Amino acid sequence: MKKYYGIVGAGGHGRETMHIARVSLAASLSAEEAELFFVIEGDVEAQRVNGIPVISIDTFLSLPGERFFNVAIGSSKVRERISDICELRRACAFSITAANSMIFDTGNVGVGSIMSPFTMVTANTKIGKHFHANMYSYVAHDCIIGDFVTFAPGVKCNGNVIIEDHAYIGAGAVIKQGTYSQPRIIGRGAVVGMGAVVTKDVAANETVVGNPARPISK
Ligand SMILES: CC(C)(COP(=O)(O)OP(=O)(O)OC[C@H]1O[C@@H](n2cnc3c(N)ncnc32)[C@H](O)[C@@H]1OP(=O)(O)O)[C@@H](O)C(=O)NCCC(=O)NCCS
Repeated sequence: MKKYYGIVGAGGHGRETMHIARVSLAASLSAEEAELFFVIEGDVEAQRVNGIPVISIDTFLSLPGERFFNVAIGSSKVRERISDICELRRACAFSITAANSMIFDTGNVGVGSIMSPFTMVTANTKIGKHFHANMYSYVAHDCIIGDFVTFAPGVKCNGNVIIEDHAYIGAGAVIKQGTYSQPRIIGRGAVVGMGAVVTKDVAANETVVGNPARPISK
């Protein structure tokens, strides 16, 4: 049965992700076995983006073969909503991993992830579903990361850190390591601004910026 792969989102991250998906699928499946699409919500305005066909989410979910999806959209809430729609229509999430991304054998990354070029997940880590690690980000030993977490480019997440569902870590942020008995905790839905140096726990839904990171002044 033919396999159809849909990258949901044709924005900046979607187009970056498409390159990685195209290269990795071409290495394992022939054009007869698998077809790759950009999938978008709403009206399809362009037939192709960067040479790849664009179809609506409804068209994709109505295709007659096996359907695999990955949501390349930065907003974690949108990612969750779209993945729920796809799963309801019996499509399966697939992960996209750049050839030079390194996941250690005791690193565990959930389904639907995007591991961009030069990313790394090291020993005894556990990461939930639909994780995005943008280029040059790392997750060090003993970290536990929830579902729908987003790392912008260049995030340095050091050892023994817990990051709860839907947190967003901005470009170039550095998170100080915790310890086994006292892990550092970034709460559910928290936002860490670009360039922040996080030395303390961050409460759920709180936004922090600066060095050392402090809650943003309203
Ligand atoms: C932290 C962040 C989410 C705040 O966004 P926001 O709520 O729209 O905040 P604003 O841009 O209105 O800024 C509010 C204040 O915080 C300051 N600020 C914003 N982001 C900051 C940051 N990362 N570091 C230090 N100060 C920051 C602004 O200068 C502004 O200060 P002012 O009130 O004195 O003028 C955002 O700036 C950010 O860092 N996002 C991550 C961007 C990123 O990593 N992109 C990668 C794309 S792949």
